[in-house]
Amino acid sequence: MAVRKILKMGNPLLLRQAEPVRDIHAPDLQALIEDMFDTMAASNGAGLAAPQIGVLQRVVIFGVEANPRYPDAETVPTTVLINPQLELLGDATEPGWEGCLSIPGMRGLVPRHLRIRYHGVDEQGNTLQREAEGFHARVVQHECDHLDGILYPFRIEDVRMFGFEDELFVP
Ligand code: NI
Repeated sequence: MAVRKILKMGNPLLLRQAEPVRDIHAPDLQALIEDMFDTMAASNGAGLAAPQIGVLQRVVIFGVEANPRYPDAETVPTTVLINPQLELLGDATEPGWEGCLSIPGMRGLVPRHLRIRYHGVDEQGNTLQREAEGFHARVVQHECDHLDGILYPFRIEDVRMFGFEDELFVP
């Protein structure tokens, strides 16, 4: 178990397509997931994708209990999601402020689909399928984007709604 270095925007690995996991029970994969949880916890993150620590595999983790980075946020179940597939439900989208551990100190207003269904497998190989909405759906969309080399600023519609959090949210 270890806190790993988080790659920052500008690192070309963050722009790559990650590969599907083939062996859920590989010891490397279990170690990767432990490191991801340690790394996410050390930064108070809401989620982390394997490419953010330089591993180009389709693994994301997320979970929000009481999180100082998102004080008003709804909670999200702590989840390991391997080889995720997303299905967008309906056309409704909503804008929301996002941050990313690979883009420290910044926030951007990003439209996301309001409702999604996602499935994949967990770290034991059990199938996971859920419907999600609101912040939960946003977190999953954000993390799964990382697996396709997409960072949230690429989805900002009005770039004026992107900046440093200590400037943006000054009352
Ligand atoms: Ni991110």
